[in-house]
Amino acid sequence: MQHGIAAATGLAQSQATGTPPAKAIGQPILEIEDLHVHFVTSHGTVRAVEGLSYAVHPGEMVAIVGESGSGKSVSALAVMRLLPPNTARIRSGVVRFDGRELLKLDDEEMRQIRGRDVSMIFQEPMTSLNPVLTIGLQIMEPLLIHMNMTDAQAKARAIELLTLVGITDPESRLAQYPHQLSGGMRQRVMIAIGLACNPKLLIADEPTTALDVTIQAQILELMKDLSRRLNIAVIIITHNLGIVARYADRVNVMYAARLVERGMAEQVFGRPLHPYSRGLLAAVPRLDQGRTNKLATIDGSPPNLLNPPEGCRFRPRCRFAVEACINVPPFVEVEPGHHAACIRAHEIEALDAGPRRYLRRTRLRSRRRGYSRYSSREQVLPRRRRLPEGCLQARARSQ
Ligand SMILES: Nc1ncnc2c1ncn2[C@@H]1O[C@H](COP(=O)(O)OP(=O)(O)OP(=O)(O)O)[C@@H](O)[C@H]1O
Ligand code: SF4
Ligand SMILES: [Mg+2]
Repeated sequence: MQHGIAAATGLAQSQATGTPPAKAIGQPILEIEDLHVHFVTSHGTVRAVEGLSYAVHPGEMVAIVGESGSGKSVSALAVMRLLPPNTARIRSGVVRFDGRELLKLDDEEMRQIRGRDVSMIFQEPMTSLNPVLTIGLQIMEPLLIHMNMTDAQAKARAIELLTLVGITDPESRLAQYPHQLSGGMRQRVMIAIGLACNPKLLIADEPTTALDVTIQAQILELMKDLSRRLNIAVIIITHNLGIVARYADRVNVMYAARLVERGMAEQVFGRPLHPYSRGLLAAVPRLDQGRTNKLATIDGSPPNLLNPPEGCRFRPRCRFAVEACINVPPFVEVEPGHHAACIRAHEIEALDAGPRRYLRRTRLRSRRRGYSRYSSREQVLPRRRRLPEGCLQARARSQ
């Protein structure tokens, strides 16, 4: 059966989600190197982004995850050069897009790129559309400005875009105002505006937060599909690890203005190396854990960036902290393509074996009591966490 969006874009659902991830080959379209962004406020300097580096390749979906206030939006706004000029300062760093250094362009050159080659879907989808302009005008505007289209051409393209994002009866929608559309439709319009000029890079800041889960899945599948088909690089900023697991190829985890882990999605989910990433993953509710199991949380809260803790910023909340964590941990490659900023990243799996042992104990106890909450060990432990074969045989012999 075809999904609504997949049907609209002419693809089967399996194609929309099941296409193998784009291989990060060739040159990245966007490279961020050692980016530092500060805000000068009456209370002091907020170090909103510190030493951020990552790259995005065409056709790839890269996620930025982290708690509120970790610097996700500010880093994206720095790429777009849309930070408030009176308070924000880009202290240092390089933002290279398609071979051009964005931070060195003048305002006019940047205006040419923004909206045409790089577009952004902003964090507040409900308020990003202009309430007094029709949907049609808002989609046509970048086409008239950047693509030099005539009104008729822009209107035809607007209809095409609305069809592409799965809006029915697009011609009559053009004359409607944002308040006449549902939240999901407004979000699709935002994506249509983002895609209007065939951008090479689309930055989506929490694009589906305000939507219900069914619409979220549709929008994300649409973005993934378009990214694959049109070779668009997508940066998706989100709190939602479910979204990251299902749609992102590569993941950047931010904590208190710094990048703490970076890797392919399967690496970060399969073998998280930073205690913060492990905490985030442990806090995701799982259907295969009993209803009585308490949901894990990360104790404490993120630091105030006006006065963050010295050394590792996660130290006050980290149960693996040692004296050496008073120094800033280097961001190192722990396994190929998988980086983390934790001095104990190499040993973290062994250190964090507690919950696994607990799960195994719970299951054995359940068996002894004559019932099993789980039907197979695959349901208890994810594939990556299976016990070594020797252990299993020894356990089988003892039962
Ligand atoms: N205009 C501003 N003036 C001063 N500080 C700011 C400004 N904008 C953002 N900040 C600060 O920069 C830090 C990073 O903010 P940012 O908006 O990037 O967080 P975020 O990770 O996107 O959070 P959320 O998930 O809540 O959107 C925060 O401490 C925030 O208070
Ligand atoms: S460097 Fe130390 S405090 Fe920071 S995450 Fe690693 S173990 Fe925890
Ligand atoms: Mg934000």
